Amino acid sequence: MEKLSIEGGAPLEGEVSISGAKNAALPILCASILTAGTLRVENVPRLRDVTTTLNLLGQMGMELSLDDKLGLSLRGDGLHSVVAPYELVKTMRASILVLGPLVARFGEAKVSLPGGCAIGVRPVDQHIKGLRALGAEIDIEHGYIHARAGRLKGTRLVMDLVTVTGTENLMMAACLAEGTTVIENAAREPEVADLADCLNAMGARVEGAGGDVITVHGVSALHGATHRVMPDRIETGTFLAAVATAGGRVTVRDCLPRSLDAVTAKLAEAGARIETGPDWMRIEMERRPSAVNLRTAPYPAFPTDMQAQFMTLNCVADGTATITETIFENRLMHVQELRRLGAAIDVQGNTAIIRGVDRLEGAAVMATDLRASASLVIAGLVAQGTTTVDRIYHLDRGYERIEEKLRRLGARVQRIS
Ligand code: EPU
Repeated sequence: MEKLSIEGGAPLEGEVSISGAKNAALPILCASILTAGTLRVENVPRLRDVTTTLNLLGQMGMELSLDDKLGLSLRGDGLHSVVAPYELVKTMRASILVLGPLVARFGEAKVSLPGGCAIGVRPVDQHIKGLRALGAEIDIEHGYIHARAGRLKGTRLVMDLVTVTGTENLMMAACLAEGTTVIENAAREPEVADLADCLNAMGARVEGAGGDVITVHGVSALHGATHRVMPDRIETGTFLAAVATAGGRVTVRDCLPRSLDAVTAKLAEAGARIETGPDWMRIEMERRPSAVNLRTAPYPAFPTDMQAQFMTLNCVADGTATITETIFENRLMHVQELRRLGAAIDVQGNTAIIRGVDRLEGAAVMATDLRASASLVIAGLVAQGTTTVDRIYHLDRGYERIEEKLRRLGARVQRIS
């Protein structure tokens, strides 16, 4: 199993370029199911979750090709299977994103029911409830969600809670429904809006994505299109948090600063100096960070996907901070690993109380999920001595060539087998 070995103590200096957003690319790749035409997607990050999605689509009969400009083309006229098998869904919950498009275009889908995962139970009841309201008949049989429908019928959907992939699944399904669908209490994440832009380029009529009410006027068919995936705001935030924690001065290129307002505000509160342009950010941190309290919540509030990275920042900050995780019930597993490096963290329910210590000390730690891995890498960058992070396959799900990018900023990071 591969590990990262990090020699801590070097500030980060230089420039880093941000990849396409994982959480926009995954639903956009699944949107290719909605058309028999060719969807060409640019700026697709090379990540394990993307490979898993392409395997899943390929297995269904999607024709995939890569052109010389690294655009990925998906042609859906030969799809012959509507099944997302357990073997793939168990490795990546986002496979649920094929459910809405399959039912909408083929009137049938059989998708393995995702189980719980490291960060929480993560049910998909909202996806199912929404599809039922659109007219699908859904049975849970032998661990599979089996959905059948004639043409879906537009309706008003009021989501019981804010769910990102739930909103995306229903928005995709509604594109080919008869009549108009209104999704209320929709997720406002920028990735939902990016998916809507892609769908609209394919001939869909989606309005309001990025807000909490999305209106979809159904059309009878979608066509091929080209779409460029938005920059990854969580990768951006992770590099910014790394600089705010380890110190240094870095320019982040090819990013989308306006998707990071809540994160930038917290970095400024921690003492970082930040400048932004339309697609770049510059961060400078010359001192020990100040402790920052935060609470995760759906966009535009502070993202759960940045909680672990800020936990590490608070571990070495001046002062005591509280971090409350409100989205997932088990997303504080990095705490016990950070303690191995000398962090002083108490946990009460979903709240961590972090007392900043003068220094962390390198140790062997284990990644438990994607963003927890990122927090351990940042901890390794600031700790004295060597930190080895085990099980970095979690990291490879969501960060493209992270050790290469960090090395270019002067970090002493090696991947070891
Ligand atoms: N939930 C339900 N029922 C549902 C759907 C969700 O109870 O039918 C609950 C979940 O259990 C959770 C909350 O609602 O407690 C929010 O979950 P959501 O559905 O929004 O999460 P998701 O769509 O499964 C996406 C991202 C996650 C990110 C969350 C929250 C993708 C592919 N994944 O997951 O990304 O943490 O939104 O912003 O978009 C990551 O990239 O590391 C990651 C986990």
